[in-house]
Amino acid sequence: MTKIALGVSSSISIYKACEIVRRFQEKKFKVQVIMTKNATQFISPLLFSALSGQEVVVDPFEKALSKTIAHVSLAQEISLLCVAPATANIIGKFSSGVADDFLSTFFQTVKCPVLIAPAMNEAMYFHHPTQTNIQRLKAMGVKFVEPEEGYLACQEEGWGRLAAPEKIVEEGLKLIKISKSLKGKSVLITAGPTREYLDPVRFVSNRSSGKMGYELAAEGLSRGAEVILVSGPTQIMPPVDAELRKVQTAEEMEKEVQACFPRVDVVIMAAAVSDFRFPNVSSQKIKKRELKSVIEFVSTPDILGKLSQKKAGQVLVGFAAETDNILKNAKEKMREKHLDLMVANDVKQRDIGFDSDYNRVSIIDSHGKVLKTEKMSKREISQIIFDKIEGLVGK
Ligand SMILES: Cc1cc2nc3c(=O)[nH]c(=O)nc-3n(C[C@H](O)[C@H](O)[C@H](O)COP(=O)(O)O)c2cc1C
Repeated sequence: MTKIALGVSSSISIYKACEIVRRFQEKKFKVQVIMTKNATQFISPLLFSALSGQEVVVDPFEKALSKTIAHVSLAQEISLLCVAPATANIIGKFSSGVADDFLSTFFQTVKCPVLIAPAMNEAMYFHHPTQTNIQRLKAMGVKFVEPEEGYLACQEEGWGRLAAPEKIVEEGLKLIKISKSLKGKSVLITAGPTREYLDPVRFVSNRSSGKMGYELAAEGLSRGAEVILVSGPTQIMPPVDAELRKVQTAEEMEKEVQACFPRVDVVIMAAAVSDFRFPNVSSQKIKKRELKSVIEFVSTPDILGKLSQKKAGQVLVGFAAETDNILKNAKEKMREKHLDLMVANDVKQRDIGFDSDYNRVSIIDSHGKVLKTEKMSKREISQIIFDKIEGLVGK
């Protein structure tokens, strides 16, 4: 029997959590309920114990539980953490890394998908810190079931009512399915800029931060894929479970990509590979007086172009960083390189794209159909890209 954890915090809508337990059970899931201490002011843990047939966890320091349930071991057993109802407080704790009770500590240890169903009055829901916390969690890959508009417990009409239990369970089931959707598949992702050296201290590079590629890697892992991340120099943390291969130059990147290509199912070239390099790299720092005022460049290898010639069933996804005629240029590049998907972004916009946590992209498929996204976190963009990729793998 698959096990899920249901986190329950102290919202007035807590009574609906009983139905959520029931509905997960109807779908043949074992439910481990975790309550915040404040939630026990509303409902006794006994009710959830009786419903779920499992001892409810509230306090990480409870002696009786310490032998059998630790936040780490429970995290390895579950396929989903669903928090419903989620208070503004627990959302804030998750978002900022506070771990002062079992539920918030547990959140930090889980690797399975997390689904949050907020419930609060309208003022709390639209309070700036709450919205910021929700955005931050979405950017980490956490999914939300948005609250509904309607009559609230505070005797007002407005937004903030807990979504219907059947909707929450349906979203939970979808997430469990997605978390296994690429099991057994390998995804190669390139990320970041490359550096083309003139001598040991000088190089030509670009503004890429690597964030888009790293978020794609995190999303691929969350769907059960094995992820190889070939990364140019970045200042950000790679996802821990990715197989990281660090490179500096376009030539090094090509070598790694070519070596991995035969054993992968999907290649996503999100790196901003330098188009040019210096023909000769000096092994010693060139003296200022010896530097020429005009420096010659030669082309770097066309990694994606070469892969498309060797393609044996792999799904090839390219990125086009453009400043003008974005769709036209991206479609041309897609045709030239025989890509299955092309993700075009406008790198002229300062608030998205290079070095930003956000992006707004156009995803073009092989029939020329274009999907334009809103401005959203790079993780959410990655989810849309992977939804498209899943439809292509194995075809
Ligand atoms: C009667 C009552 C109803 C409440 N309903 C909500 C609610 O729906 N949503 C919410 O975010 N907070 C609500 N609160 C406030 C939370 O209980 C409070 O912020 C608490 O500190 C949250 O603790 P927890 O997140 O650890 O459960 C309510 C408080 C009371 C007394």
